[in-house]
Amino acid sequence: MGMAIDDAAGVSGSATQRAQAGVSGRVPAVEVAALVARYGSRTVLDGVDVTIPRGEIHVVLGGSGSGKSTLLKHMIGLLEPSAGQVRLLGEELHQGGEGAREALLSRIGVLFQGGALLESLDVAGNVALPLSTRAAAPAEVVAELVRVKLELVGLTGKGHLYPRELSGGMRKRAALARAIAADPEVLFCDEPGAGLDPISAAALDDLLRSLCQRFGMAIVLISHELTSIRAIADRVTMLADGKVCAQGTLAEVQRVDHPFVRDFFGRARDAGSAAPSLWQRVRPGYPP
Ligand SMILES: Nc1ncnc2c1ncn2[C@@H]1O[C@H](COP(=O)(O)OP(=O)(O)OP(=O)(O)O)[C@@H](O)[C@H]1O
Ligand SMILES: [Mg+2]
Repeated sequence: MGMAIDDAAGVSGSATQRAQAGVSGRVPAVEVAALVARYGSRTVLDGVDVTIPRGEIHVVLGGSGSGKSTLLKHMIGLLEPSAGQVRLLGEELHQGGEGAREALLSRIGVLFQGGALLESLDVAGNVALPLSTRAAAPAEVVAELVRVKLELVGLTGKGHLYPRELSGGMRKRAALARAIAADPEVLFCDEPGAGLDPISAAALDDLLRSLCQRFGMAIVLISHELTSIRAIADRVTMLADGKVCAQGTLAEVQRVDHPFVRDFFGRARDAGSAAPSLWQRVRPGYPP
C-alpha cells in the first residue's frame, strides 16, 4: 500500500522533493565498480570504475568501438556484467528479483540513439508510454503530464503529430519528452546531439542542463561533440583499450597524458576553429 502512495506521488510530480534529496544525495545515481564486459571471448571493458552523483551531468567519451554504448547498457541493466558491480540509485541491478528490477528501472529514463519513437503513435501517445506502466492514472492526468513535458522540450501543441511529420531535432525532443515523462531520477542518453544542426544541438544542451538544475536529475550521456561537452559536462569519463584513461572535470582530463586524450582534444582544437564563432552567435556571451 505504501508503494501505491509513493507511486501516486511520483506521477503527480515529486521532482522538487527529489531535487532537494539530490542536493543532499546520500546515494550516488550510478556506481560502476571493476566492471568487466565481454562479448563471447572478447573483453570490451576491463575493470571500469565510474561514480556519478545525483544532479551531475556525466559524459562518456571514447573512440568508436571503445565500449561507450556497452557501458551505458550495463548501467541500465540491458547487459549483465561478466565481473564487477553496477549499482543504480544504490541498488544492485542484477541482485533483486524481476519485480525489484522493474521498480528500479521505472526510476530512470533512456534516450536511445535515433530516438526510437513508435511510428504508429502520435507524439502525445509516445510521451504517454512510460506513464501507462504506472498504476492507472486517469486519462486527464496523463494528458496534463504529457502537455507539461511537451512544453518543457519546446513542442507545445505538437502532440497530435506523428513521428514521420517531425524534423530530426523535433524527433530528438519528442524522444526526450518521453524519456523524462515519468520524472526519472537518472537520464541516460546515447549521442543525443548526433545529426542535429549546431543550433538545435545547443538548444538540446540547454534543455539537458536545465533538467539537471531544476529537477536534480543525474544525466549520463555519450557524446563526441566537444562544443556540447564544454557546455554541459560536470565530469567526463574517457575510455580507451577497455579501461578508463581519464576521468574528472574537463580541465582535469585535458591535463592527462594519454594518446587518446591528446588526440581527442588536439583534433577538436584543430577542427573547432569555425565552431566557436557559430556558438557565440547562438548563445552570445558564452562561455560566461
Ligand atoms: N552485441 C554485441 N556482440 C558482440 N560484440 C559487440 C556487441 N556490441 C558491441 N560489440 C563490440 O564491442 C565493442 C564496443 O562496442 P560499443 O557499441 O560499446 O562501442 P561504442 O564505444 O559505443 O562505439 P560507437 O562510438 O561506434 O557507438 C565493439 O568492438 C563492438 O564491435
Ligand atoms: Mg555507441
